[in-house]
Amino acid sequence: MRVVVTGGAGFIGSEFVLQAVADPTTRVVVVDKLTYSANINSLAVAANRPNFRFVHADVCDYSAIGRLLEEEQPHAVVHLAAETHVDRSIVVSSPFIETNIAGTHSLLEATRLYWSALHGRLQKEFRFLHVSTDEVFGSLGPEGHFTETTRYDPSSPYSASKAAADHLVSAWYRTYGLPTLTANCSNNYGPRQFPEKLIPLMIVNALEGRPLPIYGDGLNVRDWIHVSDHVRALNLVLSKGRPGQSYLIGARAERRNIDIVTLICDYLDEKVPHPGRRDLIRFVEDRLGHDRHYAIDPTKIETELGWRPEQSFETALKSTIDWYLDNRAWWEPLMDAHEARATQ
Ligand SMILES: NC(=O)c1ccc[n+]([C@@H]2O[C@H](COP(=O)([O-])OP(=O)(O)OC[C@H]3O[C@@H](n4cnc5c(N)ncnc54)[C@H](O)[C@@H]3O)[C@@H](O)[C@H]2O)c1
Repeated sequence: MRVVVTGGAGFIGSEFVLQAVADPTTRVVVVDKLTYSANINSLAVAANRPNFRFVHADVCDYSAIGRLLEEEQPHAVVHLAAETHVDRSIVVSSPFIETNIAGTHSLLEATRLYWSALHGRLQKEFRFLHVSTDEVFGSLGPEGHFTETTRYDPSSPYSASKAAADHLVSAWYRTYGLPTLTANCSNNYGPRQFPEKLIPLMIVNALEGRPLPIYGDGLNVRDWIHVSDHVRALNLVLSKGRPGQSYLIGARAERRNIDIVTLICDYLDEKVPHPGRRDLIRFVEDRLGHDRHYAIDPTKIETELGWRPEQSFETALKSTIDWYLDNRAWWEPLMDAHEARATQ
């Protein structure tokens, strides 16, 4: 198995790569532009393996990607490269349009050219796995769940750019027969996540005694999944999913933002006591267009592909906090370089 992974130096991409290179019969080729959210140190374990290659490139670079596909002759492309932070998309949307929409288009075209020249089994078994988000469906009311048939209704420039990419991917299946798969996952947490998203930002701020900014009333609900469970699901979709289909991935772990932040404070108090840590919580002006509630119904991936999450939220949140405590050298330089502390 030879697989090209875009965005492999990011949070979910690096988890995918680390799981994949552990199998010596899999060759893993990472394509990454190394934007602010990438960390090449996340791939340190993989870098020493003979079945790993890193290529510094932009998914928008049609020629570079085309050359790489010709050289590597992959059985699959797993597309994770994206601009991913909603707040950044609200401030400056153009990198989201460029990478998430134009980049996905360019990658699809380069892949189509490569795939259409393949023969026999290699062509038939080739897969293009597009990694997307449940945010494409917009917000739920107080009740309910997203399913594969939920109408697209994105709220932010980020989710709109991911929705556009999803539509391109399904069009490349319907029009050209490129064997694509789409995975729409809920919010991920775990090690090696850039500390601007809710969980890692709250961990590092609470550790340093800095304010803990929470949007609005803190009652927004997200459905949380550990990154290792997400990656196991992606591998199942890749190996057993039906081309042209989308699969929703979620671990049935809906939590309110405020409850997550208090859990983080209380667990950190056990490990690194700090007086009045919960008092660091600040309710700040709500995010523009802030979705109230996300929740996934994962019945399709459970019944069709036999996937089940292995991690339970409270335990895996603690192990994530432990990881940030034990790996300051991974995240401290990022904080200094990108002033990520003020956002979430
Ligand atoms: N984090 C989540 O909770 C979550 C949930 C569902 C879906 N997703 C999706 O999963 C994918 C990965 O998310 P993540 O959280 O790991 O993001 P991340 O921001 O940690 O990593 C993104 C990676 O993509 C790379 N990249 C960005 N632009 C690129 C370009 N033009 N060319 C090549 N590489 C580029 C970055 O350098 C980085 O390594 C994204 O497509 C995202 O939309 C994320």
